[in-house]
Amino acid sequence: MEVFDAVSTVLAVRQFQDKPVPEQLVHQIVEAGHLTASSANGQPWHFIIVQDKETLRQLGALVQTGPYIAQAPLAIVVGMEHSPFAVSDASRAIQSMILTAWAQGIGSNWTGFDNLKQINPVLGIPEEIEILAIIPFGYPVAALGKGRKKRKPLREVAHRERWNQPFA
Ligand SMILES: Cc1cc2nc3c(=O)[nH]c(=O)nc-3n(C[C@H](O)[C@H](O)[C@H](O)COP(=O)(O)O)c2cc1C
Repeated sequence: MEVFDAVSTVLAVRQFQDKPVPEQLVHQIVEAGHLTASSANGQPWHFIIVQDKETLRQLGALVQTGPYIAQAPLAIVVGMEHSPFAVSDASRAIQSMILTAWAQGIGSNWTGFDNLKQINPVLGIPEEIEILAIIPFGYPVAALGKGRKKRKPLREVAHRERWNQPFA
């Protein structure tokens, strides 16, 4: 899949088939996060790869905005070391993983945002590591395709040369 195809078709997937993500794809997704660029190459991220059903169930119960994590065959918990760039660095890694997965037919979604301290003890993550998000992955239940994106009109958010001069 071309990069722009992936960007323009990827959607938040919240329902997953009861089918494992092949291990080789799990590795590719994690490697996509690992290879992402970060400020001063600081790489302040940690990826905890969760495939155990009971742990996934616990994560789904703890993340109010992501109960469907419980139904996913895989979730990646993204933790951050303390750094002023941690959120931007880890967010880029998350996007790399989401797009890599999507290009291979695997749906996912960002769930939670920071303030996920209740997850640390479940996975034995040290207190000083802040969890930014939990990303469930799996084969989508419904076929998702092009043309379903809801976005503000481009002219509202893209300006040519100066503020308020429409780009398109
Ligand atoms: C930073 C961030 C946090 C998000 N948090 C959640 C969340 O907690 N639960 C959820 O179901 N979706 C969450 N989403 C998914 C967005 O709601 C979704 O991407 C957006 O509505 C656009 O839909 P689309 O991705 O299908 O185009 C989050 C997305 C981002 C980028």
